[in-house]
Amino acid sequence: MRAYDILIKKRNGDELSEEELRFFVKGAISGEVPDYQLSAWLMAVWFRGMTDAETTALTLAMADSGDRNDLSALPGHKIDKHSTGGVGDKTTLVAVPVAAACGVLCPKMSGRGLGHTGGTADKLEAVPGFRTSLSREEFFSVVQKCGMSLMTQTGNIAPADKKLYALRDVTATVDSLPLIASSVMSKKLASGCDGVVLDVKAGSGAFMKDFAEAEALARQMVRIGHLARIRVSALITDMDKPLGLTVGNAIEVEEAMLTLRGSGPADLRELSLALAAEMIALSSGLEVASCRKQAEEALDSGRAFETFQKMVELQGGDPAALEKPFPLSPCRMELRAPVSGYLNRMQTEEIGNTAVLLGAGRSRKEDAIDLGAGIRIHVKTGDYVEKGALLCELFAARESMLEPAVERYRAALTFSETPPKVRPIIFGTIRE
Ligand code: URA
Repeated sequence: MRAYDILIKKRNGDELSEEELRFFVKGAISGEVPDYQLSAWLMAVWFRGMTDAETTALTLAMADSGDRNDLSALPGHKIDKHSTGGVGDKTTLVAVPVAAACGVLCPKMSGRGLGHTGGTADKLEAVPGFRTSLSREEFFSVVQKCGMSLMTQTGNIAPADKKLYALRDVTATVDSLPLIASSVMSKKLASGCDGVVLDVKAGSGAFMKDFAEAEALARQMVRIGHLARIRVSALITDMDKPLGLTVGNAIEVEEAMLTLRGSGPADLRELSLALAAEMIALSSGLEVASCRKQAEEALDSGRAFETFQKMVELQGGDPAALEKPFPLSPCRMELRAPVSGYLNRMQTEEIGNTAVLLGAGRSRKEDAIDLGAGIRIHVKTGDYVEKGALLCELFAARESMLEPAVERYRAALTFSETPPKVRPIIFGTIRE
């Protein structure tokens, strides 16, 4: 088999066989297929797409390219949750303790942020003393004691995806439906969970800019899960504005803790409860409506917050710190409304990029981040403001970082005299 022949086939729009895809994935890892051929192949896939059979075969080949986590020592259904990436998305910090407080086993490995989207592993470093790096034994022991553990990804999970993702990043081929579906699902299959709830974001802050694309991605991932025999449900949710009222690390953890204690923003509460209800349903097989009631009870009674505090304590962190404001970076700047009117649009990717300029995110994998940097949002799409009203506060380590960031945020906003149509937080749910 030759990479060149496979390239011609894909370039011409023909379907690749499972063997051909396995050959390519194996070659990506071993170096036998060089980066220039992999890049050409990615671009051909971007233009030609993939059939269902090809996407599933690619997913399985990538899932098999490294280690598969063995979670069988934990008795019961292990349920994961995955977001396709957004701005201000801290739902893992709320939905997972809610589900765990309802008896779901959640051994969750989380990633770091890259580009305009944040990562849970970074956010958790803002909790004093909390360790995100655990041995396998510690990870299992924490899950057994409180139903959940959040740690950074370890082991050699789906290395072919790592390789291909890095090439996609520099060849303008990230936003391809079969490539995103196989990338996400290969990692989920290798993570060893029995079920996964996907939060597929749609809008200006997401990879999928429109609802139809996000829905197609959700359907594709649910189908792959079905073929690979893990339970998957997917929520299609709004990312045309940031989620909640904060973007950053410490500032987002503080907001998530407020939500667990009953006083967070409505959109974050709603989405977290919906995700938790799906997790409970996948684990128990019960109707989602009754799972939703369980989730609300766990949140409103404080049991979910206690679960999170317990996990923090077991992983070396200070549970009392979760009840106090988190320290933010010392330099602060306000942005005020230039006109009276409705906030018509927030170009959300640019708001994520503003957070990167403040030091809250990284442009390159090796960049360090400032946990105290971030954005506190006071006005969101659909709100009416008078000229001069406070739109947001920006926090950074150095004064010089503030001006470019505030300009970027300002440019991301559009005002209008009439109210815009405000989208619901959840557009739909795809189940098997
Ligand atoms: N998240 C992933 O893990 N992979 C993608 O391709 C896009 C989002």
